[in-house]
Amino acid sequence: MKRIGMLTSGGDCQALNAAMRGVVKSITNAESDVEIYGFLDGYKGLIYGNFRMLTGKDFSGILTKGGTILGSSRTPFKLMREPDENGLDKVEAMKQNYHKLQLDCLVILGGNGTHKTANLLREEGLNVVTLPKTIDNDLWGTDMTFGFQSAVNIATEAIDCIHTTAASHGRVFIVEVMGHKVGWLTLNAGMAGGADIILIPEIPYDIDSVVRKIDERMKNGSRFTILAVAEGAISKKDAKLSKKEYKEKLKKSPFPSVSYEVAKEIQEKGGYDVRVTVPGHTQRGGSPCPYDRVFASRLGSEAGRLILNGEYGFMVGIKNREIIKVPLEEVAGKLKMVSPDASIVKEAKMLGICFGDD
Ligand code: F6P
Repeated sequence: MKRIGMLTSGGDCQALNAAMRGVVKSITNAESDVEIYGFLDGYKGLIYGNFRMLTGKDFSGILTKGGTILGSSRTPFKLMREPDENGLDKVEAMKQNYHKLQLDCLVILGGNGTHKTANLLREEGLNVVTLPKTIDNDLWGTDMTFGFQSAVNIATEAIDCIHTTAASHGRVFIVEVMGHKVGWLTLNAGMAGGADIILIPEIPYDIDSVVRKIDERMKNGSRFTILAVAEGAISKKDAKLSKKEYKEKLKKSPFPSVSYEVAKEIQEKGGYDVRVTVPGHTQRGGSPCPYDRVFASRLGSEAGRLILNGEYGFMVGIKNREIIKVPLEEVAGKLKMVSPDASIVKEAKMLGICFGDD
């Protein structure tokens, strides 16, 4: 008999259901005596003992469904060690619920913050296996996270749609792509959508360089310019501020997000007609793309194999197209960022894409 707890935590993304289905199918195909406890709304469910007993049937027909059948929420890692409003010790509560239900292990699907807590639970003696989800693709230890390719498709479609209207009106358009800390999504969607300028958090931009690129395009006869700008894009000037100073600046900013600031500066410095489009959470929504369905199923299957073998304390990931397991302590607390020297950045620059850094 295996007793497995499962939860999805942090911002949702496509293929969470596909991944859970993969775990459950691979286990139930090998072992009939399995109890599955689905904790609701992320770590909250484990903290407060909110769960649903699930059977194989609950995982049938969900391969193509977006969102998560368990619900999700964000419980920041830094608050995990702080008691809740009623004085409850969250970590102790999670341990107690785990032991009370006599679980063999927890299957945790999440991104960076989720992995820090998963590793904390491992350190506290719980058996944990994790799966890497996030549209940001910023988890250390895996070449790819599920959700990323689906989000690239959606953000690319947004840029594609903007292309036609930008060309008709001869305007400058900014498409703001998700990613506060890392630019993988913006970089990939930007390249796929043929953006002329890509601004990402890892490569601070100089607005003069951005305007120069637009001027150059106009001089060469292009009627429009498309920018893919990450939510976390930052100017060279702002990058010099301390974290605290930058937070203060953002708090006082009259702009809803960085794209509007970039738009205003382009308008003022270059005299261009600029429009901003923000696809926002649509990038996390809808059905997973075929790649993510296959990828999440493979990860789920491997997680199932680890559980059947009693191998715990790992995140399942992918390296050089092979599914691998990575010790949780190596993953937790590290971000996989775009290096300004990465070959993809160099290749994009060779194609004439401007990153605002020259
Ligand atoms: O981490 C995934 C992500 O979608 C980021 O790309 C984005 O910056 C953030 O979550 C948005 O968070 P929320 O859903 O809490 O608004």
